[in-house]
Amino acid sequence: MSDIFPRWTNRLPLKVAIGALLVASAATAGINYYFTPKYANIGYQPHQPVAFSHNIHATQLGIDCRYCHNGVEKSWYSNVPTSSTCMNCHNQVLKDDDKLALVRESAATGQPIPWIQIHKLPDYVYFNHSVHVNRGVSCVKCHGQVNHLDEVKQVKSLTMSFCLECHRDPSKHLRENKDVFNLDLVISPEEQEKKGTEFVKNWHVNASQNCSACHR
Ligand code: HEC
Ligand code: HEC
Ligand code: HEC
Ligand code: HEC
Ligand code: HEC
Repeated sequence: MSDIFPRWTNRLPLKVAIGALLVASAATAGINYYFTPKYANIGYQPHQPVAFSHNIHATQLGIDCRYCHNGVEKSWYSNVPTSSTCMNCHNQVLKDDDKLALVRESAATGQPIPWIQIHKLPDYVYFNHSVHVNRGVSCVKCHGQVNHLDEVKQVKSLTMSFCLECHRDPSKHLRENKDVFNLDLVISPEEQEKKGTEFVKNWHVNASQNCSACHR
């Protein structure tokens, strides 16, 4: 791992130093745990309190991601919609259906639906949605084809090496801004190479590999 810790002696934020200690103890406590997929959370697919389907809403009905995740271009945080967004339609569609009972109740009482958060980084990692989304990094790169799932599942590891793989050479991943929300877009390797290199140059992309970019 020495190549990803080139300047280990830099003024590391305390949280990182703590993280390093955790790793050292995890390594002695059990290498197995550390390298199992559970650690990386790939495949994590909890049952949600309402059987909401991205396949129905995003793909079959063609609703744009931003209709529900409307913070994603503006802030670090990608919000999950409130039940009033659902009720824009479901006060008409399936308005007495049992599957939507909790949604109606939530809209009436103002108590949020207790969705289980699936993708989650440790507290010592800083992440920002808008910097990625506005620089041509599609949701699909980190969330896979969630638009075809009836139940959201984590499919990318979201580990440090996952992040760095792209930060080292974003040209392999960037696309036009208008295509960021099109999770089904297919780009040939040749076109990706050509366009991606242009985007990096024209947009002055500099995806930092400094520890302090992600550990502040
Ligand atoms: C009609 C509203 C709606 C639309 C449209 C929608 N989503 Fe969602 N999304 C939700 C809700 C509600 C949840 C939380 C419940 C769940 O996980 O299924 C969610 C959860 C997610 C999650 C998992 C969040 C976590 O907990 O880690 C991701 C990733 C996601 N959406 C991405 C997308 C993308 C990408 C699109 C566009 C292709 C999209 N969504 C379109 C409503 C929507
Ligand atoms: C733009 C309109 C629209 C919005 C917004 C919307 N839905 Fe729907 N939803 C629909 C339609 C249309 C159907 C399909 C109805 C049918 O089965 O014919 C549906 C179906 C459903 C179903 C039944 C799925 C099944 O398996 O049969 C659930 C549950 C549901 N929506 C939950 C939600 C939740 C939760 C939200 C908010 C996060 C939401 N919807 C937002 C239009 C919408
Ligand atoms: C570069 C990687 C990356 C991209 C691109 C990305 N996300 Fe995420 N997303 C993450 C990470 C990492 C988390 C967990 C963040 C945390 O722990 O706070 C996350 C969390 C989420 C959540 C859950 C938020 C919550 O608190 O429940 C939603 C919803 C979401 N993303 C939607 C989207 C949508 C929609 C897009 C595309 C417009 C998108 N993401 C693009 C990496 C990404
Ligand atoms: C598919 C490519 C890709 C992936 C995967 C990715 N990033 Fe990025 N990241 C970028 C690009 C492109 C930028 C924007 C650089 C710019 O603005 O010039 C960026 C910028 C950032 C910034 C802003 C840095 C600054 O200088 O302010 C942070 C923080 C960041 N990424 C964290 C993460 C984390 C944490 C992960 C993993 C969970 C991750 N990224 C995964 C491509 C990616
Ligand atoms: C692009 C974002 C990014 C950059 C740059 C980055 N890290 Fe990380 N780092 C992460 C993420 C994401 C995790 C969480 C990994 C996980 O949950 O598996 C992490 C975890 C860690 C951990 C905890 C142990 C582990 O591997 O899980 C240490 C220690 C660490 N980073 C040190 C560093 C150092 C030192 C640097 C600079 C050489 C650095 N990081 C640069 C994203 C980054």
